[in-house]
Amino acid sequence: MQLLTGQTLSFRDDPFAVPFAEACTLRRQGGVLIEDGRIRAVDEAETLRAAHPQAEVISYGADLICAGFVDAHVHYSQTAIIASWGLRLIDWLNTYTFPEEARFGDPGYAAEIAARYLDLTAAHGTTTMASFCTIHPASVEALFTEAQARGQCVVAGKTCMDRNAPDDLRDSAQSAYDDSKALIARWHGRDRLHYAITPRFTPTSSPDQLAALGGLWAEHPDCLMQTHLSEQTDEIAWVRDLHPEARDYLDTYEAHGLLGARGLYGHAIHLEPREIDRLTETGAALIHCPTSNTFIGSGLFNTAAMKARGISTGLATDTGGGSSFSMLRTMAAAYEIGQLTGTPLHAAQLIWLATQGSAGALHLDHEIGNLAPGMAADLVVLDLASTPAIAQRQAEARNLWEAVFPTLMMGDDRAVRATWINGRPVTSKP
Ligand code: GUN
Ligand code: ZN
Repeated sequence: MQLLTGQTLSFRDDPFAVPFAEACTLRRQGGVLIEDGRIRAVDEAETLRAAHPQAEVISYGADLICAGFVDAHVHYSQTAIIASWGLRLIDWLNTYTFPEEARFGDPGYAAEIAARYLDLTAAHGTTTMASFCTIHPASVEALFTEAQARGQCVVAGKTCMDRNAPDDLRDSAQSAYDDSKALIARWHGRDRLHYAITPRFTPTSSPDQLAALGGLWAEHPDCLMQTHLSEQTDEIAWVRDLHPEARDYLDTYEAHGLLGARGLYGHAIHLEPREIDRLTETGAALIHCPTSNTFIGSGLFNTAAMKARGISTGLATDTGGGSSFSMLRTMAAAYEIGQLTGTPLHAAQLIWLATQGSAGALHLDHEIGNLAPGMAADLVVLDLASTPAIAQRQAEARNLWEAVFPTLMMGDDRAVRATWINGRPVTSKP
């Protein structure tokens, strides 16, 4: 049994729905009691110390302990091409992404990148992610195998594409169904692993493939389904050409059984009013990828407006369309985009999106995304003065939110003092 002490942040409610003071519990001298990979209690450090004198105390001083970050949309297979210059979505896919994803035909390469990706993200405080893999089942095996060895909660799926992709990156409607089904049987619900049925997006899946995957989802309704929606205007025009019968982009998914409450729709920037209505009605989740949306030049997602509609919203790096592995950097980008849409997000809302919001989108908020008794002990410990620039600003802070905000805006992996996964410290700095 371990008692971690520091400043602690937990959520009682959604800070988009209720005032921050009601939504959050911030303790200056808090404690998190951990046993067997779970959080047993969160309270004042002294109270926990007195009640559990046998617990090993790990003191993090004035560092902030909160739930580990949940990155709700990534492509781990794009780790090695992150920050590729100068192109927009379709050309970026063809020039940088597809050639890199083709390398995952080699299971050894897939294993190497899976380990590298999980090392990098742990160093950045991310404890769970929902990842697209490549069309190769071995790319899913590689990520799940590595995550399982680390005791990590990971959502992943084989990316399916049977049109508008290079020869060596195309499956078929039948093989996408068969391979995904076999991967579900092998991995879904095993330890902390969850399968997401993963059609890349409408332009790269034929109607037959979309229908096959919609059918597979109906057979496995407890699986998640992840895809892309309305990221760039050129992409939307392409979908309109491919599907003149559809009412809009979302309709191409709905017509094939790919719209539902356990659906995760990445980007979703340029939505029609009808699409917003349908997403609201069905309880589907939108995933905001702010560094990607500026890096690839996609547009501005209005988080506050989607939350006001009651739409489940998660936050994500979109590695490697996004330009960072860091959920801190991603919160900064979400703040900046909020400014451009006239709705600046509060620090409490940003951290909520990166933890509870994303966990809720993944339907895993009973398990991860908060410091609360019974939750998995997946934590990040943030040094709120990790660089001279942050430290000098933080020294002027008049309250804890002002002390946290500079780290959200200017922090990176240097701010991550420790990351705990499944009750064990996996990265740690003095
Ligand atoms: N749309 C379809 N595939 C991708 C991808 O790999 N990255 C991003 N950002 N958008 C996509
Ligand atoms: Zn993506």
